[in-house]
Amino acid sequence: MAQHPKDVVITDEHPKSLLFEKHAEYIVGYSKKKNDFEYTMTEHFRMSGIYWGITAIDLLGQLDSMDSGEIIAFIKSCQDTTSGGVAPSLNHDPHILYTLSAVQILTILDSLDTLDIEGIVKYIASLQKSDGSFAGDKWGEVDTRFSFCAVACLALLKRLDAINVDKAIEFVMCCQNVDGGFGTRPGSESHAGQIYCCVGLLSITGRLHLVNADLLGWWLCERQLPSGGLNGRPEKLPDVCYSWWVLASLTMLGRLHWINADKMKTFIFATQDPETGGFTDRPGDVVDLYHTLFGLAGLSLLGEESLKMINPVFCMPQYTLDRIKVSAQVLST
Ligand code: FPP
Ligand code: ZN
Repeated sequence: MAQHPKDVVITDEHPKSLLFEKHAEYIVGYSKKKNDFEYTMTEHFRMSGIYWGITAIDLLGQLDSMDSGEIIAFIKSCQDTTSGGVAPSLNHDPHILYTLSAVQILTILDSLDTLDIEGIVKYIASLQKSDGSFAGDKWGEVDTRFSFCAVACLALLKRLDAINVDKAIEFVMCCQNVDGGFGTRPGSESHAGQIYCCVGLLSITGRLHLVNADLLGWWLCERQLPSGGLNGRPEKLPDVCYSWWVLASLTMLGRLHWINADKMKTFIFATQDPETGGFTDRPGDVVDLYHTLFGLAGLSLLGEESLKMINPVFCMPQYTLDRIKVSAQVLST
């Protein structure tokens, strides 16, 4: 069969099943290599890196192998006492992305009282603009990713009352396109990552009826390429992180069964590195924590029994949300 111009070829050499133990080794090993070049180069997004690692290791049922005391102390040191927001690392500026990551990690570790919660709530509320959108930090860039971060974070803290939720929904709906998808801002092209954020926000706020689920479900399914992998937009290469952004969106819309799950699993398995452990964006590339989480999370959505169940909206193990009694809307199939 002729190869699709923007696809990859999966061969007999690629892994065909989940290399469970290798991934635990990779994640725990990563957290211990503090002098490593890669560890140093990722300082500017360290808080999210810890969230990817801790969520992935929890899905593998090995949360105990992480040093939770060290992580909790690190997060505490990253909260800015003036704004209330959380920075990715020491001596960096706070940002809504890392504020959400910190709240997610502490929810998983059942240690939310580590942070000044009122400070977080005040920080997030301060980032909402009059049109309902959210800036990511004090420098003011607006993006529907930040709308999701604000609403997800406040939902985990049970403080959605601190923002104008109706306006937040109104802004997200202004970012909907004729193809049923959503972009970063009004008029921006549809992108699977932004779709996850916008559908996630509508799920948390119980407004999924505002989405044209058939039209958007169709657009999302069209992301699947002959290799089984998913891209984030037309004409792009497949990438394992889209097995999260797309499958999670389809799950919220009650249309996960529209995808070819067997082919999807074949692609995800092929993105594992059998030597180092971990997942890459596409077969043959270098592994990282980001793609490792989203590879495992995608498999969890597809019902991989050796993994804990993931929540499609918050991208956290389902039991952690059950424990704090937080839920979000999912359309029935
Ligand atoms: C693709 O990014 C992904 C997105 C645009 C969505 C990111 C979502 C968040 C940061 C919200 C928090 C997420 C979770 C899971 C709790 P990319 O830069 O890789 O896009 P590209 O493929 O176009 O380069
Ligand atoms: Zn990716």
